[in-house]
Amino acid sequence: TFQTIDDIEPGQRLLVRIDVNAPVDDGVVQDDRRFARHAETIRELLTDDHAITLLAHQGRPGRETFVSLAQHAEILADHLDRPVDFVPDTVGEQARAAIEDLESGDVLLLENVRMCDGELPEEEPAVKADTDLVGTLADEFDAYVNDAYPTAHRSHASIVGFPVVMDAYAGRVMEQEYTANTAVRGRSFDGPVTMILGGTKAEDVIPVVERLAEEVDRFCLGGVVGELFLRASGHDLGYDVDGTELFDHQWADHGETVERLLSEYGEKIALPTDLASEGGAEGEGEGPRVETPVDEITKETSYLDVGSETIERYTDLVAESGAVYVKGAPGVFEDERFADGTVEILSAIADADCVSVVGGGDTAHAIELYDLAADDFTRVSIAGGAYVRALTGESLPGIEALEEAAR
Ligand code: 3PG
Repeated sequence: TFQTIDDIEPGQRLLVRIDVNAPVDDGVVQDDRRFARHAETIRELLTDDHAITLLAHQGRPGRETFVSLAQHAEILADHLDRPVDFVPDTVGEQARAAIEDLESGDVLLLENVRMCDGELPEEEPAVKADTDLVGTLADEFDAYVNDAYPTAHRSHASIVGFPVVMDAYAGRVMEQEYTANTAVRGRSFDGPVTMILGGTKAEDVIPVVERLAEEVDRFCLGGVVGELFLRASGHDLGYDVDGTELFDHQWADHGETVERLLSEYGEKIALPTDLASEGGAEGEGEGPRVETPVDEITKETSYLDVGSETIERYTDLVAESGAVYVKGAPGVFEDERFADGTVEILSAIADADCVSVVGGGDTAHAIELYDLAADDFTRVSIAGGAYVRALTGESLPGIEALEEAAR
């Protein structure tokens, strides 16, 4: 067990780790679901007269979504209906001056913590506690609150470092998501367990197949993850998005594991039999959706969704399932032309008489974007990797750190 915000004395100077990491298009945040949830925690903390400094991340170095948190402060202010100050600094003099100026009832957001040395990579809590980031900021506060459930699976400084050196508490989002996602494991149902896995984070999804291969009856794969499995089954594909070599890197990291999983559990793994891409000479971003059977796909094409035949097979499997878990979307649903796979499969899950859980940083966003009813699912988590780890019964470093602090 860990301590929660109910255990904090009023009027403290708090450092609150939140997770407002969002899909970003052209530098602009596309989804505010996480902001809405954290606003509830912050509002509750404000009723206890705390002075609140928020710490958060967006994207990862090297990715297009790695941007400043200036706009995040504005979005949060809208949700809170009160000002949220922002400083373009995390541990430097400017940040410390802003923190020192804070009075009870004030809210300040620091710059993207992943811009600081020491935040990444994943290391032991004691190593993370020894970073300049933790050493410098810890002195400014009475206590640390971790509300960033979606990052609880990362052993990063802002997640596991602070609880080593100061009083640490779980925020409401952390508490609620942790409890609900863990409880979902214990739900009873009749019928096969199906997992719909997709998205771009192969490093989060492939271990899920590995760990749950015995428990899950079938995996329906899409997204980049599906493409990695298609490549392992002999298809020549792997178009690089904007020359980022994302696919090749992922293949280099996971190709061998994917090949092994396919040979050991092939009969449980459903792969796309057709894929959708952008066709025509209309110019980038304007061509119509074109579907191609996987036997005819090429490395020169970027595939952005699963095709109609695949969608039909996957929705049939969903309809006869006792439980369906989703992590990662089968297609690039933000573009309506490539939303069919995501929307039709999610709709089939919503209609099915089964236990249904949807997670994945961006996937739950599709529910909102395409007006599906969140109530039709047993549970929609704002977390991706952390939720899926809770499903596999694995412990989360962020939770362990809070438990250790409580001991
Ligand atoms: C997420 O969106 O899953 C979390 O914010 C963690 O982000 P990461 O996968 O870049 O560590």
